[in-house]
Amino acid sequence: MERVLIKNLVDHVGQEVTVAGWMYNKRGSGKIYFLQLRDGTGTSQGVVEASSVSPEAIAACEKLTMESSVKVTGKVTAHPKQQGVFELQVSNVEIIQLANPDYPISKKEHGIDFLLDNRHLWLRSSRQWAIQRIRDTIIRGSMEYLHQNDFIKFDSPILTPNACEGTTELFEIDYFEMGKAFLSQSGQLYLEAAVMSLGKAYDFGPVFRAEKSKTRRHLTEFWMLDAEAAFADYEDNMNTQEGLIRHILTKVLKENFSDLMILERNIEALEKANQPFIRKTHAEVVKELQAMGSDIKEMDDLGGDDETMLMKKYEQPMFVTKYPTAIKAFYMKRDPEDPTHVLCSDLLAPEGYGEVIGGSQREDDYDKLLERIHEHKLPEDAFSWYLDLRKYGSVPHSGFGYGLERLVTWICGLEHVRESIPFCRTPYRLTP
Ligand code: 4AD
Ligand code: MG
Repeated sequence: MERVLIKNLVDHVGQEVTVAGWMYNKRGSGKIYFLQLRDGTGTSQGVVEASSVSPEAIAACEKLTMESSVKVTGKVTAHPKQQGVFELQVSNVEIIQLANPDYPISKKEHGIDFLLDNRHLWLRSSRQWAIQRIRDTIIRGSMEYLHQNDFIKFDSPILTPNACEGTTELFEIDYFEMGKAFLSQSGQLYLEAAVMSLGKAYDFGPVFRAEKSKTRRHLTEFWMLDAEAAFADYEDNMNTQEGLIRHILTKVLKENFSDLMILERNIEALEKANQPFIRKTHAEVVKELQAMGSDIKEMDDLGGDDETMLMKKYEQPMFVTKYPTAIKAFYMKRDPEDPTHVLCSDLLAPEGYGEVIGGSQREDDYDKLLERIHEHKLPEDAFSWYLDLRKYGSVPHSGFGYGLERLVTWICGLEHVRESIPFCRTPYRLTP
């Protein structure tokens, strides 16, 4: 019998097919069983009537435990009431493996720590399934948009000799006879080398931050997409980010509608977010926050709480531009009109989600960059290759990096970033 994926049952109505998957629930007894099946592509119900199957098949149904793997054969019918739902009028049930009856995750409420301890199994539940499918669309949509806009995929290294985003949050490892190596915090510096060859480039991979922050936005291992372009200023950079995020939103709304429904995501909020983004300077935003009661000062960074409070007000993502120089990374280009601020932007997501992207124009002048490296007390030696990029054909260039899990968390409407990644890593969790 032909094996058919559940998502393709629509093309086989009236035909006898086999579905291979897992039984996640069952109702009925004796005369009739309703088997809830999932196969990774969707869910379907198998209706098993004692009158139309062998006694062995009914015995198999009786035995079936939750999460058993099965092959179910039957005729495909359209659900009498629910549109787009297809069932199997079962003629045979074959058990692949009868699951132990003590499957730890049930329909009852479990605590988050219990679920995270059982993450390897929790991944099978419908919410987690939907989240991973949306994550996949976000990744594919990102690559699609960037390729359509002439960005070339480039693979930045993960083992690095120095910091990219400041030295306090690095995971250190012993590197043979050469001393210490560090796990990368962002591929950005390497991408800057890439664009002097390729013009526009992006990388995508895991990055690591050793900061011990226990918030709903921080992981120690997460996936970052960095993109960089030569001959682009910080406004061109924002235009690319806006195009990218809107492409992702459009794609998820189109391809993952049923997943968003499983997550009970407010669709209208996502549609509203997919309109022209807001752009405000750091100075403007600080005034706005002060008026809302925050104690933030002119030269302060926005705290997580500030971002949340600010972004509860807005329906579209907001670029906050031109942060004070003193609180941003050494590589950001100072505003020629006001060197106390840099040509950067953070993109904050609406509905209180906060920062999803950080980006800037880069310092492209050799002497100014060297001065900034000294100011930040960074080892000049380690950055000699990076300085070379300003020696040989330097050009204005800009780039940004998004945190995939922050995007997934916002788009899926999750409470906490830990559900957005398959196996989360925090200062308090390394297993499974
Ligand atoms: O703002 P960040 O630190 O910027 C950079 O690393 C730049 N080098 C990127 C670039 O210009 N190419 O990090 C970028 C994004 C943040 O906006 C946030 O979405 C995410 O990475 N991020 C985290 N996500 C989860 N857990 C953490 N601990 C994160 N730290 C940053
Ligand atoms: Mg940032």
